[in-house]
Amino acid sequence: MRRKIVGASWKMHVDSIEQGVRLTRSIKELVGHIREIEMFILPPFPMIFDVSGALKNCTIKWGSQNIAHKEKGALTGEVPPRILKEIGCTYVEIGHAERRRYFNETDEMVNKKVKLSIKYDMIPVICIGETLADKDDTVTVARLKTQVLWALHGLTEDELEKVILAYEPVWAIGQSISADPQYVSHIHTIIRGFIKREYGPKAAREIRIIYGGSVDPGSAKSLSRFDDIDGVFVGRSGLVAENFKDIVNGLSS
Ligand code: PGA
Repeated sequence: MRRKIVGASWKMHVDSIEQGVRLTRSIKELVGHIREIEMFILPPFPMIFDVSGALKNCTIKWGSQNIAHKEKGALTGEVPPRILKEIGCTYVEIGHAERRRYFNETDEMVNKKVKLSIKYDMIPVICIGETLADKDDTVTVARLKTQVLWALHGLTEDELEKVILAYEPVWAIGQSISADPQYVSHIHTIIRGFIKREYGPKAAREIRIIYGGSVDPGSAKSLSRFDDIDGVFVGRSGLVAENFKDIVNGLSS
């Protein structure tokens, strides 16, 4: 049985440590006791340490929004995987549409980052999704298949079970409403199909696929009714503690 997930990436929306710690404390107070749903928060790098302190003794975990594609060396501005592990990260977001678009992150780089997260015993949350220009039945499927197979290339069946795929259609990020839950469910079934053909039925059954893109408490509830949608990955909605709570409660009811 796959446990439902609510993950929140703060992107660069929260721009002070004090604000981040305050938000973390409010979220912890509202949902920090819940075990039924897997919950995590991904703050900007320099805030991770303070946020992790505020999350002591609760069920919410934390992680980073990115990871270097190499272990160490001359890579100015990057953060080594080992340090992320040392500061207690459980999750690492990889290949978000904004990273692919503004920082030229390629599928090959995504694959290196996935392997390093697993090597350092962190759960990769791999973002995949078609752009508006790709939104066509055939092109969408081809684009997603390329992204999924590249991201997972070289992983063993056991390693695959740790992975979370976040289906985030680029055209649905930062909008006023999420993609239609029926459409999302259809795409998740297609993605599970790729996994089944490449890695077999067990991997397809166990891999978790969550949805991200303009999720709010209402859409989270509708999305969670579909068996193939294992949870939600939120941006703006995760910046208000009450919304985070309503999303979590919507998934548990
Ligand atoms: P949003 O961001 O919820 O603000 O649309 C989602 C995402 O990019 O993961």
